[in-house]
Amino acid sequence: MEYNAFVSVKKEAPSYFESIREYVSMPKKLVFGPDSVKQVSKETKRFGNRTLVVTDEGVKKAGLVSKVLEVLLADGVEFYVFDGVKMEPDIENARVVAKVSREGGYDVVIGVGGGSCLDMAKVAAVMATNEGDVEEYFGDELLKQPGLPLILIPTTSGSGSEATKGSVISVGNLKKVIFSRWMIAEVAIVDPMMTLTMPPRLTAITGIDALTHAVESILSKRSNLISSMFARESIRLISEGLEVAYKNGRDVNARYRMAIAATLAGVSFANSSVILGHGISYALSTLFHIPHGLGCGVALPYVMEYNMQECAEELKDVAASFGLNVGGLEATEAAKMAVRAVVDLMRKIGFPISLREMGIPKDAVLELTNILMSNYQRLLLNNPREVSYDDVRTIFARMWEGELESLREANSPNRSTA
Ligand SMILES: [Fe+2]
Repeated sequence: MEYNAFVSVKKEAPSYFESIREYVSMPKKLVFGPDSVKQVSKETKRFGNRTLVVTDEGVKKAGLVSKVLEVLLADGVEFYVFDGVKMEPDIENARVVAKVSREGGYDVVIGVGGGSCLDMAKVAAVMATNEGDVEEYFGDELLKQPGLPLILIPTTSGSGSEATKGSVISVGNLKKVIFSRWMIAEVAIVDPMMTLTMPPRLTAITGIDALTHAVESILSKRSNLISSMFARESIRLISEGLEVAYKNGRDVNARYRMAIAATLAGVSFANSSVILGHGISYALSTLFHIPHGLGCGVALPYVMEYNMQECAEELKDVAASFGLNVGGLEATEAAKMAVRAVVDLMRKIGFPISLREMGIPKDAVLELTNILMSNYQRLLLNNPREVSYDDVRTIFARMWEGELESLREANSPNRSTA
């Protein structure tokens, strides 16, 4: 079939025709660049005047909410600020957000903050117009009608939530997600100046979350030509920007690269999906409250290695996006270089590469496996290589030891240096 020439994904499923999508979903408008937050009134007024600003205390204390409010105030936009979003919000927090939104009679919702704030802004937008409890809408496209217009302003460069249709909410120890096309932002304002105050650790954790989105979306069974294009560019920007942003948070060029990279990775996985690494991160978060990006990052090199037999060509693309010269190399060799590039970047920004380094007890491997297999199977569905219970247990065991084939070969004294 002649069309096969255009397919970069050579995994079993989907076929080219199955992967044809009706649309690529992304925010209707992206406003970006240093000080682009000054456009917020202009964008808000398109939808009305009564505005609900959803954020958290940390973002407020960092002076980032006032950057938005000053602009709204100067332009006569009415606003109410809800700053009660919790880190990795739970269902009770989401219910409070829904109540605030329903009672306020707002025209538009603005989310300001990291992934948690943006996810709760999405909840505020859709629950204003949809009846019932938040819990009824976990799953895919269960909302009954469109929500309020949504403007999302990220202050971390990681979650990509400004570009996706998902809202992650904890129920007990489990992570559940509402997916809805009505949670896609009307406008995402991606302003690197909003990220300058992020401390190094948060820069590292959120930046590696974005990298995980990009790499996993390239590997996903549902990757397609457009999603992979966004992901490759995201990886390129992260390879240029993350270490610099970690070492000097005030470097606007590095912050700019990271801000755009996170949004591009968000577009990528919104149109393809994340895979095994996010399942691992959720399991780590469920059992040990490991921050999301930390769990994703520590999983990433292992997820790349696990999928290498199915996705060497895609991983070669990852290596090329890191700026490595892979021309003429056999795909598997280039794929191992991609793993080493990820590990190298992680080390430069103080990231652990094993569960042992993170203080996770060795005997937790079994329980982590059980949690992943019983609660987060949905993240394995799009993994290019099938994942069994035993596979997951082996991956966790290797993660605990810090056992990576690609590194072992690189460190081997017999390895040719030519
Ligand atoms: Fe993530």
